[in-house]
Amino acid sequence: MTNEELVAKALEARKMAYAPYSHHTVGAALLTKDDKVYLGCNIENAAYTPTNCAERTAVFKAVSEGEREFKAIAIVGGPDNADKLSLCAPCGVCRQVLNEFVDADTFDVVLGTDVPSDYKTFKLSELLPLGFGPKSMAFLHDYK
Ligand code: THU
Repeated sequence: MTNEELVAKALEARKMAYAPYSHHTVGAALLTKDDKVYLGCNIENAAYTPTNCAERTAVFKAVSEGEREFKAIAIVGGPDNADKLSLCAPCGVCRQVLNEFVDADTFDVVLGTDVPSDYKTFKLSELLPLGFGPKSMAFLHDYK
């Protein structure tokens, strides 16, 4: 699966976004170590705070299906009526959720646009430097 193909899948996922309040629609495509793809879209709520981002929808779908190892995520987003999409970076909460399940130094975050070949790739560690993750909690295991 190329980055371009993963962005194309994120664009498909974005079509499912439920964003009647912000009109900012986001799609994500999460690639597992075994080259399976889990799609996610943002799902808003009239009470606002229950809203779930596209990236977390994809992660929660995958983990709830037994997946724990991931290589990359592609993300696309912007105003639902926009012809052109510029890069849409994941929010801090989604960076944190990704950091729970991946090696931040090797995991690729592919930020896409409406043109699948037009993307930019970052390591999660660039977007979440000095991130707090499972290793930060390793002291807990000393008690076991
Ligand atoms: N959103 C995402 O889906 N992913 C992000 O990383 C940032 C924000 C969604 C949440 C909300 O539905 C809309 O975009 C505006 O914040």
